[in-house]
Amino acid sequence: MKTVRKAVLPVAGLGTRVLPGGKTTPKNLLNVFDRPILAYVVAEARAAGIEHVVMVMGRGQGAIEDYFDRHVELESHLEARGKTDLLETLHAELPRPGEMSFVRQMAPLGLGHAVWCAREVIGDEPFAVILPDMLMDANPPALAQAIAAYEAVGGNVVVVEPAPPGEAHKYGIVALGEPAPGFAGRLNRMTGMVEKPPPGTEPSNLFISGRYILQPDIFAILSAQEAGAGGEIQLTDAMAKLMTVQSFHALQYDGSTYDCGDKLGLLRATVAFALKDPELGGQARAAVAALLKG
Ligand code: UTP
Repeated sequence: MKTVRKAVLPVAGLGTRVLPGGKTTPKNLLNVFDRPILAYVVAEARAAGIEHVVMVMGRGQGAIEDYFDRHVELESHLEARGKTDLLETLHAELPRPGEMSFVRQMAPLGLGHAVWCAREVIGDEPFAVILPDMLMDANPPALAQAIAAYEAVGGNVVVVEPAPPGEAHKYGIVALGEPAPGFAGRLNRMTGMVEKPPPGTEPSNLFISGRYILQPDIFAILSAQEAGAGGEIQLTDAMAKLMTVQSFHALQYDGSTYDCGDKLGLLRATVAFALKDPELGGQARAAVAALLKG
């Protein structure tokens, strides 16, 4: 079985739900508490053993490349003032030279198209996909849990979680088969998946929530560039095709997810991460309580 060494992070979406916030700052560089969303997910990928991250970018997103590069002027400034803690924090977030690639999607034609744009950098090996909007707070990290599942069962693995009550019809929902041994009923073979099933027809309440381990055969399917729901090239359509010839498993990971793709999700994530910050958590709690009192 080949190891999962590379991860694709599609960040080229237009982010209309967070406008005007994401107009000039790419959506995934918006802050959750004290750092951009992308800083959390790149840290998750590295903690899961990923050696190379491929960002799939859109126009005007050069600030993402700058965020993951040295900032020599700022570093000398901090160094001259003895701010070594801050310097270390900045350095800890950086990939080593050559560990991150950037490809352009050129037009936001859908998530499937974005993943396909990474094909040359991924090559012929299994790879991870992380949807950066879905911030997952977990120990071990969500992607590490997905990789552990992949190492047990092979094939393709997607992370799933329960949709909010009555909202399953808004998501890509999975149908489950038998459980895999050793995962306490949290890892099941998938027998199907359906994008936005009409209410009442959902095969389960579990939706595909933003971490995938995929075999490179997905690229040949995506290269047909067939548009699906909303006129977009959908990753779920390509996965459904791949499922006819390869195994898929669904993992219910252990952790908390914050959907930062809309304004309230960003707020929820910011408050949650502020409250658990070792240094400022107490003051954050007092500030939130004071606001709620009015
Ligand atoms: P979303 O469905 O959240 O779309 O994409 P979006 O465009 O970012 O946001 P809204 O709906 O307009 O507010 C899920 C992930 O897939 C990426 C997005 O950047 C996001 O991380 N994506 C989506 C692409 O990279 N390219 C696309 O063509 C579509």
